[in-house]
Amino acid sequence: MSIFRFTLLSFFLTYGVSYAHIDVPNFHPKSTPVVQSVTVDQSGSGNFTTVQAAINWVPAKNNQWVQIHVKPGSYKEKVTIPQDKQFIFLEGEGQGATSIEWNDYGHSENSSTFTLYADNFLASHITFKNTHDLGISGPHKFDVAPAIMIWGDKAAFYDCGFMSLQDTLGDWKGRHFFQSCYIEGSVDFIWGRRCVSADGQGCKITSTAANLGPGRVIGFVTAQGRDEPHTSAFVFKGGSVDGQGLTYLGRAYKEYSTVIFSQTYFGSDIVPLGWDAWHDRGHE
Ligand SMILES: *[C@@H]1O[C@H](CO)[C@@H](O)[C@H](O)[C@H]1NC(C)=O
Ligand SMILES: *[C@@H]1O[C@H](CO)[C@@H](O)[C@H](O)[C@H]1NC(C)=O
Repeated sequence: MSIFRFTLLSFFLTYGVSYAHIDVPNFHPKSTPVVQSVTVDQSGSGNFTTVQAAINWVPAKNNQWVQIHVKPGSYKEKVTIPQDKQFIFLEGEGQGATSIEWNDYGHSENSSTFTLYADNFLASHITFKNTHDLGISGPHKFDVAPAIMIWGDKAAFYDCGFMSLQDTLGDWKGRHFFQSCYIEGSVDFIWGRRCVSADGQGCKITSTAANLGPGRVIGFVTAQGRDEPHTSAFVFKGGSVDGQGLTYLGRAYKEYSTVIFSQTYFGSDIVPLGWDAWHDRGHE
């Protein structure tokens, strides 16, 4: 039995009864008390034409919920929410209608389309995309190209989309919640190291490993990087993992990597073995 599986099993034994109550933010689009609202509209009939301009407008040390409503369109921009701009509720008009897209790759620190440093964040009905190599099939270099990097505590996402080829959703630090989201990629496309917990409920996870091209058609959904006992985990409840191209549920990024899928549908391209030990081969 691999260390990875052992960790998984012991996690179940210790926390099995309570894992459903993992401490994640309970912000909800319908019950968040918004005090002010602005609109972003590319066509010029809102308060701002870019998402970043609306974020820049939010005052530093903001401590009441501000809604930024984004009208349909593909917003071609890189967006950063700095640490001192908390309590932002970013709302689109549907995963297929409103998206933020950019095309950069190379470093997790600065190539993400959307970067969240602030605590207390809520998003709904919007898609975050890194278009680098997205949708192109054939042999690829393996490039870090995140659609989102989350460095803040307490972030919740409802009906959001996350799309890239590699390292799509960087869940690095804090407690995060995802409900009814669509997450697409081929390699390590849900990954992170220090997050306390990430909880996905009813999410549709789609592997595009087949796009990697001949000879490289193995994908990995998760790369969870817990490096000490009892600090973080990715937990997925319900939903599905499907797609094209042989795909592992995850590979162990660090010694205590912990990922749980519960009541989740697995498509036929998901490798039955489930996990890969990666650098910890031999410690199984
Ligand atoms: C946003 O636009 C609306 C409608 O024009 C206006 O009433 C409101 O004052 C604007 N808000 C800001 C913060 O500019
Ligand atoms: C991005 O981050 C990397 C690693 O920290 C650095 O080497 C590179 O110069 C940065 N690129 C830009 C454009 O800031």
